[in-house]
Amino acid sequence: MNYHDPVLKAESIDALGIRMDGTYVDATFGGGGHSRAILDAMGGSGRLFGFDQDEDAKDNIPENENFNFIQSNFRHLSRYLKLYGVNTVDGILADLGVSSHQLDEATRGFSFRFDADLDMRMNQNADLTAKTILNEYKEEDLVQVFSDYGEIRNSKTLAQAIVNERRLRKIENSQDFINMMGPIIRGKRNRYLAQVFQAIRIEVNDEMGALKDFLTNVGQTLASGGRIVVISYHSLEDRLVKNYLKSGNFEGKQIKDFYGNIERPFKLITKKALEPSQVEISRNPRARSAKMRVAEKK
Ligand SMILES: C[S@@+](CC[C@H](N)C(=O)[O-])C[C@H]1O[C@@H](n2cnc3c(N)ncnc32)[C@H](O)[C@@H]1O
Repeated sequence: MNYHDPVLKAESIDALGIRMDGTYVDATFGGGGHSRAILDAMGGSGRLFGFDQDEDAKDNIPENENFNFIQSNFRHLSRYLKLYGVNTVDGILADLGVSSHQLDEATRGFSFRFDADLDMRMNQNADLTAKTILNEYKEEDLVQVFSDYGEIRNSKTLAQAIVNERRLRKIENSQDFINMMGPIIRGKRNRYLAQVFQAIRIEVNDEMGALKDFLTNVGQTLASGGRIVVISYHSLEDRLVKNYLKSGNFEGKQIKDFYGNIERPFKLITKKALEPSQVEISRNPRARSAKMRVAEKK
């Protein structure tokens, strides 16, 4: 099965404005579709570092002396680059979220389409799993996860049902969890389940915390004139990216210097997020919620 179909491939590579002798980072290597396109654009020179926290991504490492794979969370970007003697880079690409491989691999527990252990870790060595969250989180913390990350309208009812269920038995696998949700599903079943699974996945992998650390690293690691390209799939992620690129902080607050000039660490290349074309969405429906933002370090 195809590991992953890269989203907005031509547009994102174009936005990086690749220099043949430059140094680039693909923060979310996955199936390596974007990485291979960056290597092609560099035509046999330059350097590319590909990060992924999922050990399965290692199967896709290209045989190319200009490429280094780093199996790590991208929140540690600058620290790992320094180990390679790299302090600044000319461009960074991040294509956030999960890969098709992760969603389609039943045993990983990311998808409600299969019956599997409730795992959902992108990093197979991490401690926190979906099972721990469902069986151990306090009711009010579950409410927060479902409303913030899944925009579940009846998140209180859902959290209460989980707490009642686990008093009787441990919630072990996805089909038991889905059966338990039966009477409380609101609206379209698959949409509801997708939102619940997405919310748990974001919490398991601390996706918002990792994105904040990553963006802070980007600010420190991009050389002047270097480009950052981020493709996100969730409104909370997109808001963090938008605010940070606009103002250098996550709230989007205008910060003024001593002379009253507004500080802007980046020049925005996309004023409005770019979305995939209808042609791309019909070929690859998983691209439908993608939003790409591009900025240049001043
Ligand atoms: C949407 S896929 C990227 C697909 C890739 N662009 C391609 O063309 O195949 C996202 C990948 O990023 C990885 N990932 C997500 N968050 C990460 C993080 N915080 N640190 C490292 N890797 C991460 C996932 O494991 C997954 O393989």
